[in-house]
Amino acid sequence: MPPPQPTPQPTPPPSPPFEPFRFKSVEPIRLTSALERRGLLDACGWNLFRVPSDAVMIDLLTDSGTGAMSSAQWSAMMRGDESYAGSASSTRLVETLTRITGIGHVLPTHQGRVAERLLVETIIGEPNARNPRGAAGAGMVVPNNAHFDTTRHMIEASGAEALNLLARAGTDPDNDAPFKGDIDIAALEKLLNTRGDDVPFIMLTVTCNSNGGQPVSLANMHAVRNLCDAFAKPLILDACRFAENAFLIRQREANQSHRSVAAIVREMFDLCDGVAMSTRKDGLCNVGGLLLLRDENLHRRACRLCVLTQGFQMTYGSLPGRDLEAIAVGMQEVMNETYLAQRGAMIAHFAQTLERGGVKIVRPAGGHAVFIDAGAFCPHLDDNAAHALACAIYEHAGVRGTPIGSALVNRASGAAPQLVRLAVPRRTYSQAHLQYAAASICELKRQASSIKPRSLPHDLDPQQQHQQNARAPLEAVWR
Ligand code: F0G
Repeated sequence: MPPPQPTPQPTPPPSPPFEPFRFKSVEPIRLTSALERRGLLDACGWNLFRVPSDAVMIDLLTDSGTGAMSSAQWSAMMRGDESYAGSASSTRLVETLTRITGIGHVLPTHQGRVAERLLVETIIGEPNARNPRGAAGAGMVVPNNAHFDTTRHMIEASGAEALNLLARAGTDPDNDAPFKGDIDIAALEKLLNTRGDDVPFIMLTVTCNSNGGQPVSLANMHAVRNLCDAFAKPLILDACRFAENAFLIRQREANQSHRSVAAIVREMFDLCDGVAMSTRKDGLCNVGGLLLLRDENLHRRACRLCVLTQGFQMTYGSLPGRDLEAIAVGMQEVMNETYLAQRGAMIAHFAQTLERGGVKIVRPAGGHAVFIDAGAFCPHLDDNAAHALACAIYEHAGVRGTPIGSALVNRASGAAPQLVRLAVPRRTYSQAHLQYAAASICELKRQASSIKPRSLPHDLDPQQQHQQNARAPLEAVWR
């Protein structure tokens, strides 16, 4: 009789390269017990947004504003020129952005959402403006691959419709397509043919946060540009995660692997007429946003709105000079390919470890986050599975993610996946932290049937955008 063969074991994914930085300043993590965390959840009404951060061991609630700045950024901040006019920091920022993006009209804002607001008010209509159909944006429609919550809000506040036109692959969590952030070109063309006059501008969100941080391909951006030229429409990039998008293009798109990330970034920006972005992500800063416009007249209009409500448009917009310095350094640093390769590999490894432990995720892993399918994790739970699972992960492991509720509808199946987003702050956690998070979530998976249903907290406030979606979906993010 032949000897029994050992059961083949899945090969563990190769370890990612080590972090290409060392620590100069550290923040201690307080170790908490499941018992303490359970008490805190009770005290906070099971609202994860109310849990004090010192009781979170690994905080994956967001990658926005939570990254670590480099020694080069901190030292640049010391030379911040706070002069009201003619600030050297402003000049340095404009020079850097012009070199990276090719766009010289720059308006710094304190967050991405302010840039979005100025964009919408500049192109669609200033506050209190009316058109014959009602509010400034009444009857208008702004297409995007998928609008982030704040962008949607700004557009809808103007009276216009915010329309998601993700290509079908991007709406299917199980589809392994490399560019699930691509917009549906046929649907966009149809919209322009039927309602072209109602479209003030077209947006692309790179990477597409709403469906998992999925990248948009250069091919797709060129196709959108062609439509913009044919229909004379401006193309605006929501470019919060521009470097991660460019890196994924280099990794995944045909004929791009030989190019530098900086060259791909420049090609992405060359295709657009404007950029609204938060610098709290790929700007590698804890604050800030940018509105870049190629058209001088539009820029002038945005400046007029800026000076009324934010600050002096010719220098600081709505940021101190020192933050302009940090942004200028961060925008350049983020294109470092060793950094991007390590970050990408670390997030992919995190996703693979979860999957090997039986946790279903949105595939493939995105540029900034891993999204867990809460319905598959706890099939015994109802509509609020994402909330219940996010609370259970916190209680079990001290790891905080964001529940994303039933606003996400998968166009392929018609189902609305309940998701928990685990977003990875930049340069903040090591592989060991993510390894701990993945191992404890896999452990929780083995006892998932004990996760109790949870109703949504009664004190959700509008800032808790993702949870708010779960309670009152405005419109499907995944259609
Ligand atoms: N656009 C995208 C794609 C975003 O992900 C965000 C923020 C914004 C715009 C708004 O930028 O926060 O600086 O005003 N995303 C954070 C997140 C909040 O957790 O995904 P902001």
